[in-house]
Amino acid sequence: MKFLKRIFGICETPLPGNPQAWSVQNGSIRIDLTRMPELKTSGSGVRLEGRGLDPRLLVLHGDDGKYHAIANRCTHMGRRIDTIAGSNTIECCSVSKSTFTYDGKPVGGAAKKPVKAYPVVQDGETLVIALSN
Ligand code: FES
Repeated sequence: MKFLKRIFGICETPLPGNPQAWSVQNGSIRIDLTRMPELKTSGSGVRLEGRGLDPRLLVLHGDDGKYHAIANRCTHMGRRIDTIAGSNTIECCSVSKSTFTYDGKPVGGAAKKPVKAYPVVQDGETLVIALSN
């Protein structure tokens, strides 16, 4: 089943269950962690798509305990990227399984170019992701 998902490029990372948990304002994304259970544990992640976002984003709670945001478009053929808990890396959902560090550097698979990473600042239970950097 997992192989079929890879053939069709179906990722594992969910969209937010609560649409009120995030917003786009003045070139930044704000995430209310109290409404975003998808990011509760290390190794977890969530997809942010729509609302004018280009590119779509993968926001993750890394194994390092920090939050990271990257463009969710693999630089090989554009498929979405998943978190891989316990690996300190993220991985494309396609059969070629390109892997990247949390700052977007390619470390395995077909992709040779980095994916763009965005700075994430945590202020209490709020994450702010600057899109312009
Ligand atoms: S699209 Fe990601 S490895 Fe091919």
